[in-house]
Amino acid sequence: MATLRHVVLMGPQGAGKGTQAALIAPALDLVHLATGDLLRSMMGQHSSLAGEVRDYYDRGELVPDDLMARMLFAALDEAALEHQPVGALLDGFPRNRVQAEVLDTQIAQRRETLAAIVHISVPREVLLARLSGRLICRNCGRSYHSRFNPPAQPGVCDACGGELYQRSDDTEDAVARRLAIYFEQTEPLLDFWRPRGIVLEIDGDRSVVPVSESILVALHDVLDAGRS
Ligand code: AP5
Repeated sequence: MATLRHVVLMGPQGAGKGTQAALIAPALDLVHLATGDLLRSMMGQHSSLAGEVRDYYDRGELVPDDLMARMLFAALDEAALEHQPVGALLDGFPRNRVQAEVLDTQIAQRRETLAAIVHISVPREVLLARLSGRLICRNCGRSYHSRFNPPAQPGVCDACGGELYQRSDDTEDAVARRLAIYFEQTEPLLDFWRPRGIVLEIDGDRSVVPVSESILVALHDVLDAGRS
């Protein structure tokens, strides 16, 4: 069996990680694992843990590292049982140095590979405009934007017909906190990975399709090289 080759999608809130992951993961046979989606699905349940997670999430703060790592690797194991993907497309993990080290340890123990970090960059003023108009499908989690990426029928998901809603952490205060955490704790991880030569830089300040095309070209080379 081929070694799983994982890819991390990096970029600030609103860079389009979720939007791009939905397009590129199926094209590359990667399993899309989004920690935000895992948490939103968990928060839909009635448990004390769901309530605890909701407190962090609604404030725009990170949930505890150990809980996040356990949820992610359980989801990865479950997905890998269903079919044999090329690897995982990690969206929202890691977000700080502790999580990056947990990822390295887990990948080494599994004898898998961290093949690439895709860094999508977008100017701050564009991020704020994107987040303020974002709509999410309650059923499948797909992202839309009321102006930049509208659904064919207002309020209805093109993919599954689900109802669209505004996320509880897309408030002005929570967005400011999420961006501050990203630039303080997450973006510095690029310097942790750059010496390994695995960071791919993508200009995310373009419309959705050209951004996907650039990511696909960059990743085809990396993932193909791993097959030979
Ligand atoms: P999460 O769900 O991961 O959210 P996020 O990191 O805040 O990222 P976003 O979903 O806001 O950004 P995105 O880049 O995916 O943007 P999108 O594609 O939707 O995390 C939420 C919370 O969960 C965190 O705050 C934390 O509490 C917790 N959490 C998650 N992971 C964790 C971890 N590892 N550890 C601890 N806690 C964790 O695009 C945004 C908008 O722009 C959309 O409306 C879209 O339609 C539009 N758009 C996208 N691309 C384009 C384009 N090219 N042109 C025009 N519009 C575009």
